[in-house]
Amino acid sequence: MKFLHLSDLHLVTPGAALHGMDPRAGLRRVVAHIRAHHADAALAVITGDLTHAGEPEGYAAAREILAGLPMPCHITLGNHDSRPAFRAAFPEVAVDAAGFVQQAFAMPEGLGLLLDTHEPGRAEGRLCPARLSWLEAALRGGSGPVFLFLHHPPFRVGLGRMDDIRLREGAGELENILWRHRARLRHLFIGHLHRAVAGSWRGLPFTGVRGTNHQIALDFVTQGVAPVSFEAPGYGVVLASEAGVVVHFEEPTAG
Ligand SMILES: [Fe+2]
Repeated sequence: MKFLHLSDLHLVTPGAALHGMDPRAGLRRVVAHIRAHHADAALAVITGDLTHAGEPEGYAAAREILAGLPMPCHITLGNHDSRPAFRAAFPEVAVDAAGFVQQAFAMPEGLGLLLDTHEPGRAEGRLCPARLSWLEAALRGGSGPVFLFLHHPPFRVGLGRMDDIRLREGAGELENILWRHRARLRHLFIGHLHRAVAGSWRGLPFTGVRGTNHQIALDFVTQGVAPVSFEAPGYGVVLASEAGVVVHFEEPTAG
Protein backbone atom coordinates (compact mmCIF):
# COMPACT_ATOMS: atom_id res chain seq x y z
CA MET A 1 0.00 0.00 0.00
CA LYS A 2 1.35 3.38 -0.99
CA PHE A 3 -0.12 6.68 0.16
CA LEU A 4 0.95 10.30 0.64
CA HIS A 5 1.05 12.62 3.65
CA LEU A 6 0.82 16.38 3.11
CA SER A 7 0.36 19.10 5.72
CA ASP A 8 0.36 22.82 6.43
CA LEU A 9 -0.44 24.42 3.10
CA HIS A 10 -1.11 27.87 4.68
CA LEU A 11 -2.86 29.27 1.63
CA VAL A 12 -3.83 32.94 1.78
CA THR A 13 -5.93 35.20 -0.41
CA PRO A 14 -4.40 34.96 -3.90
CA GLY A 15 -2.07 37.87 -4.52
CA ALA A 16 -1.00 38.09 -0.87
CA ALA A 17 2.33 36.70 0.33
CA LEU A 18 3.17 34.72 3.45
CA HIS A 19 6.74 35.05 4.73
CA GLY A 20 7.56 36.60 1.36
CA MET A 21 6.23 33.66 -0.64
CA ASP A 22 3.07 32.81 -2.54
CA PRO A 23 1.79 29.66 -0.79
CA ARG A 24 0.10 28.58 -4.01
CA ALA A 25 3.52 28.18 -5.62
CA GLY A 26 4.78 25.65 -3.07
CA LEU A 27 1.59 23.62 -3.21
CA ARG A 28 1.62 23.64 -7.01
CA ARG A 29 5.22 22.43 -6.91
CA VAL A 30 4.25 19.57 -4.64
CA VAL A 31 1.21 18.60 -6.70
CA ALA A 32 3.27 18.64 -9.90
CA HIS A 33 5.93 16.49 -8.22
CA ILE A 34 3.31 14.01 -7.05
CA ARG A 35 1.84 13.81 -10.54
CA ALA A 36 5.29 13.14 -11.99
CA HIS A 37 6.56 10.65 -9.39
CA HIS A 38 3.79 9.26 -7.19
CA ALA A 39 0.61 9.27 -9.24
CA ASP A 40 0.22 5.58 -8.34
CA ALA A 41 -0.37 6.31 -4.64
CA ALA A 42 -3.75 5.05 -3.48
CA LEU A 43 -4.69 8.21 -1.59
CA ALA A 44 -3.37 11.37 0.04
CA VAL A 45 -4.02 12.70 3.54
CA ILE A 46 -3.65 16.35 4.56
CA THR A 47 -3.18 16.94 8.29
CA GLY A 48 -4.46 20.49 8.58
CA ASP A 49 -3.61 24.15 8.15
CA LEU A 50 -4.95 24.35 4.61
CA THR A 51 -5.11 28.12 5.05
CA HIS A 52 -3.15 30.59 7.16
CA ALA A 53 -6.13 32.37 8.71
CA GLY A 54 -9.24 30.55 7.54
CA GLU A 55 -9.54 32.73 4.43
CA PRO A 56 -12.39 31.59 2.13
CA GLU A 57 -10.22 32.59 -0.84
CA GLY A 58 -7.46 30.38 0.56
CA TYR A 59 -9.81 27.41 0.66
CA ALA A 60 -10.91 28.15 -2.89
CA ALA A 61 -7.25 28.14 -3.96
CA ALA A 62 -6.67 24.88 -2.08
CA ARG A 63 -9.64 23.30 -3.79
CA GLU A 64 -8.47 24.39 -7.22
CA ILE A 65 -4.86 23.21 -6.78
CA LEU A 66 -5.68 19.96 -4.95
CA ALA A 67 -8.00 19.04 -7.82
CA GLY A 68 -4.76 18.27 -9.64
CA LEU A 69 -4.05 15.32 -7.37
CA PRO A 70 -4.77 12.12 -9.27
CA MET A 71 -5.84 10.23 -6.12
CA PRO A 72 -8.55 10.70 -3.46
CA CYS A 73 -7.62 13.18 -0.76
CA HIS A 74 -8.66 13.04 2.91
CA ILE A 75 -8.44 16.22 4.98
CA THR A 76 -8.61 17.37 8.57
CA LEU A 77 -8.04 20.77 10.17
CA GLY A 78 -5.25 22.56 12.00
CA ASN A 79 -5.15 25.56 14.28
CA HIS A 80 -4.86 27.99 11.36
CA ASP A 81 -8.09 26.73 9.80
CA SER A 82 -11.69 27.83 10.13
CA ARG A 83 -14.15 24.98 10.46
CA PRO A 84 -17.11 26.92 8.96
CA ALA A 85 -15.05 28.28 6.05
CA PHE A 86 -13.55 24.85 5.36
CA ARG A 87 -16.93 23.13 5.39
CA ALA A 88 -18.36 25.78 3.07
CA ALA A 89 -15.53 25.25 0.59
CA PHE A 90 -15.39 21.44 0.92
CA PRO A 91 -19.02 20.40 1.53
CA GLU A 92 -18.36 16.85 0.36
CA VAL A 93 -15.82 16.13 3.11
CA ALA A 94 -17.28 13.82 5.75
CA VAL A 95 -17.69 15.12 9.29
CA ASP A 96 -18.74 13.35 12.47
CA ALA A 97 -22.18 13.70 14.07
CA ALA A 98 -21.06 16.81 15.97
CA GLY A 99 -19.66 18.51 12.87
CA PHE A 100 -15.98 17.90 13.58
CA VAL A 101 -13.87 17.23 10.51
CA GLN A 102 -12.91 13.72 11.47
CA GLN A 103 -13.68 10.55 9.60
CA ALA A 104 -12.80 6.91 9.23
CA PHE A 105 -11.91 5.86 5.72
CA ALA A 106 -11.00 2.55 4.12
CA MET A 107 -7.42 2.18 2.99
CA PRO A 108 -6.24 -0.64 0.71
CA GLU A 109 -4.78 -2.39 3.76
CA GLY A 110 -6.44 -1.06 6.87
CA LEU A 111 -8.42 1.81 8.28
CA GLY A 112 -7.50 5.50 8.25
CA LEU A 113 -8.71 7.69 11.11
CA LEU A 114 -8.59 11.48 10.91
CA LEU A 115 -8.91 13.46 14.15
CA ASP A 116 -9.95 17.12 14.25
CA THR A 117 -7.86 18.92 16.92
CA HIS A 118 -8.82 22.45 15.83
CA GLU A 119 -10.24 24.68 18.57
CA PRO A 120 -11.45 28.13 17.44
CA GLY A 121 -9.32 30.99 18.68
CA ARG A 122 -6.56 28.77 20.01
CA ALA A 123 -3.18 27.81 18.62
CA GLU A 124 -2.89 24.72 20.77
CA GLY A 125 -4.95 21.63 19.97
CA ARG A 126 -7.90 20.18 21.80
CA LEU A 127 -9.77 16.90 21.77
CA CYS A 128 -13.02 17.36 23.66
CA PRO A 129 -15.01 14.43 25.10
CA ALA A 130 -17.20 14.27 21.97
CA ARG A 131 -14.20 13.87 19.68
CA LEU A 132 -12.55 11.34 21.96
CA SER A 133 -15.78 9.32 22.16
CA TRP A 134 -15.92 9.26 18.39
CA LEU A 135 -12.37 7.88 18.29
CA GLU A 136 -13.13 5.22 20.89
CA ALA A 137 -16.18 4.12 18.91
CA ALA A 138 -14.25 4.08 15.64
CA LEU A 139 -11.61 1.80 17.17
CA ARG A 140 -13.97 -0.50 19.03
CA GLY A 141 -14.94 -3.79 17.52
CA GLY A 142 -12.61 -3.99 14.55
CA SER A 143 -9.37 -5.88 14.24
CA GLY A 144 -7.49 -4.60 11.18
CA PRO A 145 -4.54 -2.20 11.11
CA VAL A 146 -5.21 1.47 11.85
CA PHE A 147 -3.34 4.54 10.63
CA LEU A 148 -4.09 7.68 12.66
CA PHE A 149 -3.81 11.26 11.38
CA LEU A 150 -4.08 14.51 13.35
CA HIS A 151 -2.64 18.01 13.22
CA HIS A 152 -1.27 18.66 16.71
CA PRO A 153 1.33 16.30 18.19
CA PRO A 154 0.15 15.06 21.60
CA PHE A 155 3.73 15.19 22.96
CA ARG A 156 6.74 17.51 23.15
CA VAL A 157 9.31 17.47 20.36
CA GLY A 158 11.92 19.87 21.80
CA LEU A 159 10.82 23.00 19.87
CA GLY A 160 9.77 25.64 22.44
CA ARG A 161 6.81 27.39 20.87
CA MET A 162 5.56 24.24 19.12
CA ASP A 163 5.66 22.35 22.39
CA ASP A 164 3.61 25.15 23.98
CA ILE A 165 0.92 24.76 21.31
CA ARG A 166 0.89 20.97 21.00
CA LEU A 167 -2.29 19.00 21.68
CA ARG A 168 -2.93 20.17 25.23
CA GLU A 169 -6.47 19.31 26.25
CA GLY A 170 -7.40 15.66 25.75
CA ALA A 171 -3.85 14.41 25.19
CA GLY A 172 -3.92 12.14 28.25
CA GLU A 173 -7.30 10.70 27.27
CA LEU A 174 -6.03 10.17 23.73
CA GLU A 175 -3.04 8.32 25.10
CA ASN A 176 -5.31 6.05 27.13
CA ILE A 177 -7.53 5.24 24.15
CA LEU A 178 -4.58 4.51 21.89
CA TRP A 179 -3.00 2.32 24.55
CA ARG A 180 -6.17 0.24 24.83
CA HIS A 181 -6.19 -0.28 21.06
CA ARG A 182 -2.44 -0.49 20.58
CA ALA A 183 -2.64 -3.89 18.92
CA ARG A 184 -4.38 -2.27 15.93
CA LEU A 185 -2.36 0.94 15.66
CA ARG A 186 0.40 0.97 13.07
CA HIS A 187 1.45 4.61 12.79
CA LEU A 188 0.63 8.16 13.83
CA PHE A 189 0.91 10.97 11.27
CA ILE A 190 1.12 14.56 12.54
CA GLY A 191 1.25 18.05 11.06
CA HIS A 192 1.79 21.40 12.80
CA LEU A 193 5.58 21.17 13.09
CA HIS A 194 6.48 22.10 9.49
CA ARG A 195 9.38 19.68 9.74
CA ALA A 196 10.26 16.18 8.62
CA VAL A 197 10.37 14.38 11.95
CA ALA A 198 10.09 10.79 13.10
CA GLY A 199 10.14 8.87 16.35
CA SER A 200 7.86 7.01 18.68
CA TRP A 201 5.47 8.03 21.44
CA ARG A 202 4.59 5.47 24.09
CA GLY A 203 5.75 2.84 21.64
CA LEU A 204 3.66 4.15 18.75
CA PRO A 205 5.75 5.21 15.73
CA PHE A 206 5.07 8.66 14.31
CA THR A 207 6.15 10.93 11.49
CA GLY A 208 5.52 14.54 10.59
CA VAL A 209 6.20 16.32 7.32
CA ARG A 210 7.27 19.72 6.08
CA GLY A 211 4.70 22.29 5.04
CA THR A 212 4.29 23.31 1.43
CA ASN A 213 5.08 27.02 2.00
CA HIS A 214 7.39 27.82 4.94
CA GLN A 215 9.09 25.60 7.51
CA ILE A 216 9.93 25.98 11.19
CA ALA A 217 13.62 26.08 12.02
CA LEU A 218 15.28 23.25 13.95
CA ASP A 219 16.00 25.58 16.86
CA PHE A 220 16.05 24.13 20.35
CA VAL A 221 16.85 27.48 22.01
CA THR A 222 14.26 30.07 20.99
CA GLN A 223 11.16 30.20 23.18
CA GLY A 224 7.85 31.98 22.68
CA VAL A 225 7.93 32.22 18.89
CA ALA A 226 8.34 29.63 16.15
CA PRO A 227 11.28 30.74 13.98
CA VAL A 228 10.39 30.41 10.31
CA SER A 229 12.84 28.80 7.90
CA PHE A 230 12.86 28.63 4.15
CA GLU A 231 13.72 25.02 3.47
CA ALA A 232 11.97 23.53 0.46
CA PRO A 233 8.39 22.28 0.63
CA GLY A 234 8.00 18.60 1.46
CA TYR A 235 5.62 15.70 1.77
CA GLY A 236 5.73 12.08 2.87
CA VAL A 237 5.52 8.96 0.73
CA VAL A 238 4.34 6.02 2.82
CA LEU A 239 4.82 2.35 1.98
CA ALA A 240 2.92 0.07 4.33
CA SER A 241 2.57 -3.69 4.43
CA GLU A 242 2.11 -6.44 6.99
CA ALA A 243 5.86 -6.22 7.58
CA GLY A 244 5.75 -2.57 8.66
CA VAL A 245 5.60 1.08 7.63
CA VAL A 246 8.27 3.03 5.73
CA VAL A 247 8.02 6.81 5.28
CA HIS A 248 10.11 8.58 2.64
CA PHE A 249 10.40 12.37 2.63
CA GLU A 250 10.19 14.14 -0.72
CA GLU A 251 11.47 17.72 -0.87
CA PRO A 252 10.93 18.96 -4.41
CA THR A 253 13.13 21.90 -5.34
CA ALA A 254 12.05 24.68 -7.66
CA GLY A 255 12.35 24.43 -11.42
FE1 LIG B 1 1.00 25.08 10.12
